[in-house]
Amino acid sequence: MRGFIRAVYPGSFDPVTYGHIDIIKRAAELFDEVIVAVGENPNKDHIFSSEERVRFLESSLKGLDLDNIQMESFSELLVNFVRRKEARVIIRGMRAITDFEREFQMALANMDMAPKIETVFLVTRPRSMPVSSSLVREIAYYGGDVSKYTTEMVEKALKKKYEG
Ligand code: COA
Repeated sequence: MRGFIRAVYPGSFDPVTYGHIDIIKRAAELFDEVIVAVGENPNKDHIFSSEERVRFLESSLKGLDLDNIQMESFSELLVNFVRRKEARVIIRGMRAITDFEREFQMALANMDMAPKIETVFLVTRPRSMPVSSSLVREIAYYGGDVSKYTTEMVEKALKKKYEG
């Protein structure tokens, strides 16, 4: 018997996009519980604080009737967080071949550190393929329309950040 499976979907979510929301919805159907974990990538400069990123995620998922999702931030090694939460799976979205190398490297490193934790990749829907958080930030920076890619709350927060 496989038992209860808790999964962790980690990311920077800086900011959350509809691509991420799609992965969260699909993960919620596959696993008994999903923890959306807002982390820090030490190689990236985040524009929103982890509290803001969690808040944007919470508001994006409100009204979707997903009762097996939790949101948390973490600032430790991902595998340690996953172990601490007694989760068995790490979920990552795979958009294109360009994601593959980095994702593969991360999955192998995580497997090396924690052989019992499995990484599961969900293929991003074609409409989310061109979307990434940095692209959304860049479009917003130059005053472009990001409403196709992210929620109204994020759109407003980006406007405030860049237009003052
Ligand atoms: N839709 C839209 N965008 C998507 C997406 C989807 N379905 N799937 C991935 N992306 C984008 C993200 O928007 C992000 O875009 P950006 O680079 O323009 O910001 C990019 O793909 C991947 O970033 P993200 O998912 O945020 O992951 P990351 O590669 O920055 O890693 C952590 C973030 C928190 C998971 C990682 O840094 C981590 O594990 N940190 C903890 C420390 C640790 O354990 N390190 C060792 C790891 S081996």
